[in-house]
Amino acid sequence: VKIIPQLPSQDSTLPLPEPNQKLIDGLTTRRSAKIASLRNAKAPSNEELREILKVAIRVPDHGKTVPWRIIVIAGENRGILGQKLADVAFVKNPKIDAEQYNIEKERLERAPLVIALLHTPKANPKATLWEQELSTGALGLSLLLALQGYGYSACWLSEWPIYDEAAAKIIGAKDNEKIAGLFYVGKTQIAATERPRPNVSDIVEYWNES
Ligand SMILES: Cc1cc2nc3c(=O)[nH]c(=O)nc-3n(C[C@H](O)[C@H](O)[C@H](O)COP(=O)(O)O)c2cc1C
Repeated sequence: VKIIPQLPSQDSTLPLPEPNQKLIDGLTTRRSAKIASLRNAKAPSNEELREILKVAIRVPDHGKTVPWRIIVIAGENRGILGQKLADVAFVKNPKIDAEQYNIEKERLERAPLVIALLHTPKANPKATLWEQELSTGALGLSLLLALQGYGYSACWLSEWPIYDEAAAKIIGAKDNEKIAGLFYVGKTQIAATERPRPNVSDIVEYWNES
């Protein structure tokens, strides 16, 4: 099935929401992939990825701030960047053994494609920092859903490199930026299983005047 995103042109009138079983099925079957299930998975083509990202970035964003950007780590660049991250890990802890060093070196090769989502806050009197952070989080989920819509599984991971200043810089984060996650992506035949979910009744209440 070839997915053709129907991206609306600016100011066009959008269809009113209608009951949409496929959309709800997509939401109820979304599940993060286990990282091990992505090792021999297939990456989206550059053209597919471009479309996936066009769909994914349609997220709420107060004041049209665009407080996010994306760095794609593809092909052999996964290994090149992995080597640099392993070197950072070694500088931080020279006691790591060869096995641990190799794990670090191959960290980004656990999936055929890795997408770094960066939070890039901007001065905008309309949008507070919190609002901008929430927009970036929204893009994280939107990215997972857009990938799913194109038949790709994904897993949103933090792990140490996003919190380490030197590693984040090598990945591409500028001084004011934070990495919101590394998204490991691939088309896999290994199906996910559902995990426990909270009960809605445990997290929802109706406001009443007390
Ligand atoms: C910001 C963020 C960071 C995460 N980082 C990790 C991580 O480093 N390691 C991990 O095992 N899961 C991490 N997760 C959780 C997985 O991405 C995933 O959501 C969860 O394991 C399964 O839930 P799901 O199938 O409903 O997505 C993170 C989730 C979020 C939102």
